[in-house]
Order: sequence, then structure tokens, then C-alpha cells
Amino acid sequence: MIILGIESSCDETGVAIVQDGKTLLAHSVASSMDIHAQYGGVIPEIAARSHIEAILPTVQSVIEQFSREKKIAVNEAWNCIDGIAVTYGAGLSGSLLIGVLTARTLAIMKDKPLYAINHVEAHVYANFLVAPQPSFPLLSLIVSGGHSQLVLFNDHFSYMLLGQTVDDAIGEAFDKVAKILGLPYPGGPSVSDYAKTGDPYSYSLPKSKVAGEYNFSFSGLKTAVLRAAQHAVGEDYRLASIELPQRLSEAQKHDIAASFQRVAIETVVDKTLTAYDEFHPASVVIAGGVAANQELRTQLRSRLPIAVTYAPPALCTDNGAMIATLGCYKAMHGKEPADAYSLAIEPNLVM
Ligand code: KG4
Ligand code: ZN
Repeated sequence: MIILGIESSCDETGVAIVQDGKTLLAHSVASSMDIHAQYGGVIPEIAARSHIEAILPTVQSVIEQFSREKKIAVNEAWNCIDGIAVTYGAGLSGSLLIGVLTARTLAIMKDKPLYAINHVEAHVYANFLVAPQPSFPLLSLIVSGGHSQLVLFNDHFSYMLLGQTVDDAIGEAFDKVAKILGLPYPGGPSVSDYAKTGDPYSYSLPKSKVAGEYNFSFSGLKTAVLRAAQHAVGEDYRLASIELPQRLSEAQKHDIAASFQRVAIETVVDKTLTAYDEFHPASVVIAGGVAANQELRTQLRSRLPIAVTYAPPALCTDNGAMIATLGCYKAMHGKEPADAYSLAIEPNLVM
């Protein structure tokens, strides 16, 4: 079973080809991140326009890689592809539209079944490209710029949402803390880089308590970081956050980044451990952009009694490989394909 996957829900145009839900044959990601970085966050109109420019060249480059891998002529590649999978939600409307319309057109032109993929569910499937593959029951911690949730999969397509954030996603908290410290967008990589040489115990920041055993909250932590930074420069809540980057010393920035990262990561690791003790899963996986975080991997490794599966960083952030992988399982389990003439986007799709 060979599936071509297309991802365009945010600012990454990802295309990949995966065989049997476990082997990555071709893979390419075009990102408009550098443009958004100038504005400190994703600008939906720019993201959509960038997808329009990037999508066909990215599909073409993946088809060429695949042909080289399979040692076939480029014009024979489509004969070897069994279906197309595409993210139809959740995400930015304009961005999702480009991927879905491209996938629908290709499915009609090439006469292939089309599989509609839930972006958040697909993040978990990046882990099926890692050997040994995870086994069920599988506990997954999904941590990205838009989501923070714990989901227990009893099998493919049979899962239970244990809990989720009641306000900001953890990746969003990293992005906001980066702004407070004057570090570049996206905040995850820049804050974790600064945290490397900081003291993670130098600032005492609260771990928020929320109703629901497996729910998270990050907005209080973000405000606590703002107050700690204002206090560090001898001011109170009246100091505008825009003043902070030039008033904080480098040492203070490193220490705040390290203290924030420790508490944010401990928050999700604590709940993952509680869920592990309650459900005794056979595997634990982490998924989504924040799964690339080294502190998260280190804390889980030292606190969980079993090894945690995680994908290489390029497959943790948005990509076409995770979409193609979940597409393979849909096809292999005989799931009904979507109608290529009518598949609509669902920007607010949930798991
Ligand atoms: O999964 P993703 O690429 O997009 C969404 O579906 O949201 O995740 C992007 C998020 C951003 O908030 C980014 O700051 C965060 O993942 N991120 C990280 C790291 N790399 C990316 N957060 C913490 N540590 C990292 N190394
Ligand atoms: Zn994502």
C-alpha cells in the first residue's frame, strides 16, 4: 500500500510518500516560517499564498524522489501510488483549502481514492515510521502550537481523549514566552536553546491546577513568566511587556527560559505519568512540534518505566509523512475514502 500525503494546515507545505504505514519513501517540506518570523506569528493570508506557490513544486519533487527510490521513470510513478491522503482539519481555512483542492484534483485526474485526515490524529502516526513500531494500547501525548492533549489509543481508529488544555496550547506558551524575552518566532526552538545555559530553578513559577485529572492549563504560567520578568527588572505589572527584551540581562533571559521550560514540561510529564499508572499502556509516544523538545524527552526518559517513542524532529513538526502514514492505515483497514468531488475543509475539527 503506497500513499501520497499532503499537509497544508498552517505554514508548512508538506508532501510525502509512505509504504505500508511504516516506510518513508519520499518527503519534502516547504515552509513560509521565515516570512512569519518577521511578524512574530503566522499571518494566515501569507501562509495561504505561500502554499499556492509551493504545493505543485513540492508534489513534483516528491514524485521525482520516489521515482529515484523505486528506480522507475517519473511518468510511471503515479501508477505505483494507491491513494492520496490530505489534511482537511483542523487548521487555517485558507491554508487547508490549498491542500484539499490540490488533493481532490489529483485524486480525480489520477483516479485514486482520497483519504481525509485529521491533522492532530496524524501527528501520532509519525511515530509509526520509527522502528520498532509502537504497540497498543498506546498512550500519546500530543503537544503542538495548537494542541495539548493526552489520548489513549486501544487500536487504530479506536481512541479516547483523556484530557486537553483548557486555554493555551503548550507550544503557544513557548511562543508567547519567546516574545516576552525578545527571542525569535517560533518560540519553542529559541526558548529551549536559551534554556540550555540557564538555571531551571532560579525562578519559582507555578504549575497550574485545573479541573479534570488529565486537563492542562498554560495561560497562568505565561502570566507568571511576565510578572517574574517585570519583577526581575525592578518593575511591576504596569511595565509594558514590549520594554522587557531590552531591560532584561542575557543571564536573566537564560534563567527565565530555563525555569519556564522546566515547569511547562513538568506539567505535561506529570499527567503523562499519572495516565501511565492508570492505564498501563504497552507504548507511550509523543507527537506534535513540542515533541522535538529535548527537555521533554529527557524528563520522560528519566521518569517513565518504559522507553518513549518519538520521531526525528522533522517528523514532529508539521509534515506530509504523518498524513500519508495515517492514510495508509485507513486504506489498509478498508476505511471508506472521501468523495473527491466534494470533500470540504473543517477548520475546527477535533479528535
Ligand atoms: O505541530 P506543529 O509544527 O504545528 C502545529 O500543529 O501547531 O507545532 C508547532 C509548535 C510551535 O509552537 C513551536 O514553538 C513548537 O511547536 N516547537 C517547540 C520546539 N520545536 C517546535 N517547542 C518546544 N521545543 C522545541 N524544540
Ligand atoms: Zn501540527
